[in-house]
Formats: sequence, C-alpha cells, structure tokens
Amino acid sequence: MKISIIGCGYVGCVTGVCFADLGHDVVLVDVDPAKVRAITAGQSPIYEPGLEDLIRKNRDRISATTDLRVAVGSTDITFVAVGTPSREDGAIDLSYILTACEEIGQALKEKEAFHTVIIKSTVFPGTTKEMAGPVLERGSGKMAGKDFGLGSNPEFLREGSAVRDCLSPDRIVIGADDPRTAGILGDLYAPVGAAVLVTPVTTAEMIKYTSNAVLAAKISLANEIGNLCKRLGVDSREVFTVVGMDGRVSPAFFRTGIGFGGSCFPKDVRALIAGARAHGEDLKILRAVLEVNEEQPKRLLSLLQRHIPDLQGKTIGVLGLAFKPDTDDVRESRAIPVVADLLAAGARVVAYDPAAMENFRRVFPQVTYAPAPDEVLEADAVLILTEWGEFEGLDYRGRIVIDGRRLEKAKDEAAVYEGVCW
Ligand code: UDX
Repeated sequence: MKISIIGCGYVGCVTGVCFADLGHDVVLVDVDPAKVRAITAGQSPIYEPGLEDLIRKNRDRISATTDLRVAVGSTDITFVAVGTPSREDGAIDLSYILTACEEIGQALKEKEAFHTVIIKSTVFPGTTKEMAGPVLERGSGKMAGKDFGLGSNPEFLREGSAVRDCLSPDRIVIGADDPRTAGILGDLYAPVGAAVLVTPVTTAEMIKYTSNAVLAAKISLANEIGNLCKRLGVDSREVFTVVGMDGRVSPAFFRTGIGFGGSCFPKDVRALIAGARAHGEDLKILRAVLEVNEEQPKRLLSLLQRHIPDLQGKTIGVLGLAFKPDTDDVRESRAIPVVADLLAAGARVVAYDPAAMENFRRVFPQVTYAPAPDEVLEADAVLILTEWGEFEGLDYRGRIVIDGRRLEKAKDEAAVYEGVCW
C-alpha cells in the first residue's frame, strides 16, 4: 500500500518507518525542511534506538517531502501524526491537526481514487468525527465514510522501545465507522500478526486516553502506597511484586519513585481531565494521580535535606535528566522540578546523562554538565533521577545517595542511602 504520514515527530517517524519495514511505500511529510533532509539522507530526525538502522534498511521504500498535497495525491492512505500542544487549561490545541486536515481536504478535492484518512495523533474522544471529519468534508466537497475513509488508529509506542512496540504490539486498535476503512486498516496491519480490535472511531480515541490514564494511575497509586511503606519500614518493591502476581493486576507500571514524566502521561491525563470537565464530569481520581506525581519529586528534596539541611553553596550531583532511560527526551522529566528546587535552595548542580544533557541545557543553562559521571559522584550528595543501565556500573561507596529510581547497586553500596518509597 502507498502511505503518507503527516508529521515527522516521534509518532509519525516511527510509524512511517515501521510501515516501510512491513513492505509498504511510505512518504513522510513535515513542514520542517531539516527533518525532510535528514530522512532523505537516511538519518533519523529523532533519538530512538534502532530507528536509523530501519530507515537505512528500507531506504528505497521511504521518501520525505514538505509538499503535503503531492504526498496525499500519490498515496492511498494518509495518517495524521502532527503535534497537539497543551493549552493553558490542560486541553490540547488542535490547530495543527485541523490545518493538516484542511490541506488534505484540498488534495482530496483533486483526487479521483478512494482515499483513507486516519488520525494517529492522540485526541480527545469525538475529535475525529466531530472536528477532523467536517474539515476534511468542507475542503474536499466529499463525504466521510462514503467518498473517503475516515478513522482513528491510536499508537501505544513507548520512547526507547518504539520500534519494538510498533512491530510487535500487544494489540492494534482500529477505530472505523465504515467497513471499508476497517478493511483497509486491517490489511495494512495484517503482516504484524498482532490482535486487531475494530471499534467505533470515538471508542478508539477513548481507549488511548484510558490506557494512559490507567497506567499513570497505577504509578501514582504505587507511589502513594510506597510513601506509606517507607514510613513503616516496608519494602514497596516486595509489596508490588507480590500484588502484581495477581492475574487481575499485572506487575507492570508499579515501579515506585519520583513519578512519571514524558510527552504522554502528564499531558494526556490533563487533557482527559480538561475534556471531561467540558462535558460536566469531574475526574477526581485522575486529579489525585497528577497531584501525587507533583509531590514525589519534592519528597526527594526533603530526604536530601535530612542529611544536608542547608543546601546553600553545596554541590549536588544529579545522575539522569531524561524522563526515563534510553531517550534524550526531557519533556515533563521529574528532573526538572528537582533541579529547579535545588537551584532555588542555593545549591550548585553538576549533572550527567548519557543522552539528554543538550536538551536539559536548554531549560537549565546554569547547571554544570559533566562529560562523565565521575564528577557527579564527587559532589556532596548524589541524586539518581533516571535509571539508565550504565548507572549500575558506578562506584557509590562512601557517597550520600538519594535515589528516585531505586538502583540496587547504589542501595547496596552507598554510605548513606535514601529512596523515595523504600
Ligand atoms: C507512554 C505509554 O507507555 C505509551 O503506551 C504511550 O503511547 C505514550 O506514553 P512513554 O511516555 O514513552 O510511553 O514512557 P513509559 O515507559 O510509559 O514511562 C512513562 C513515565 O512513567 C516515565 O517517566 C517512567 O519513568 C515512569 N514510570 C513508568 C514509573 O515511574 N513507574 C513505572 O512503573 C513505569
């Protein structure tokens, strides 16, 4: 099949390259010529393990352009994977999606062959049908579900393992209100060999938000119980390992610590709360999920101050700035509030991260970025904020370590060790 993907961000890039790997011809579209140039040169415009290799491997099936109309005109199916920035009230800004749909509509006006448009970006339930559809219809003069296909196909990619998640997913969700769109998407994904669930369009959108809300809630619930475990001298990891063995629960996403960050969980939970509010529903549990997540990094600071009450003039080492390992992404990283609090308390911060220092430097130019972890370990105390594998190989003996991610080696070796929930 011939596929165009609008938006070469994280989701668009990974999805497009994986479709090419499944044997489809893919045109990636972005307004940023630098991204288009990178892809054309066989380079990945984003940091994601394995992606560049896959681009090179499938080079003859991947092209990139800034010309949306030509891309739509020359393909059978278009995925919209543009950004949805957060608005002040937590709801998402749909302007990129709607602009893309306007242009796709124009392209469809001139096109005779049947075309399918799929919204891949995460949007509040109802958006595809009630907003994207009418814009496409107006632009093209055609009817959704009849003259062109319209559907929703949410992604469940985790940064750092996105290629694996895309090629071997737990399930594929196809939101389609007409059988033709459902059939086209079903054929497209057939080579993946995963379970395919076909639902109404709005249900697919709801599944995506619910999925992230449940996972985020698991983490905050684990953290809240973990905080109590710490007070009682109980090992929260032992508790959640055993609780997770209950088949009704699953052990995943019970890792306690300084909480969740990234481009999805905080934003999607906020957007769900804001969207629900507009529909007259107050999502109280999800509000608490965010509240717990904001408090966890503060606990790390209080633990540090148990050992160094006055941080003024002290050097504090920070290991890990990315919101999780194997990514250079610092969006909503828990390192942001921790470093902000350290600086506000007058500490000098020396930080090391294997991939995210450049991105973090844009937020905090006043931090000292160490080329290797040794300098960080020399500080008055060391905070562990991301559980990168390479931190397991460091020597923590004689150090004061305050750990937000539970690194066993640091726990065993440090002279003084404090964990947030254990
Ligand atoms: C997430 C979802 O997993 C994915 O399905 C969705 O499409 C996008 O959002 P991602 O943001 O890449 O993916 O990261 P993920 O691995 O889910 O971790 C998110 C955050 O939660 C990280 O900051 C991580 O450190 C934290 N986390 C995760 C915990 O604190 N405890 C856990 O048990 C698991």
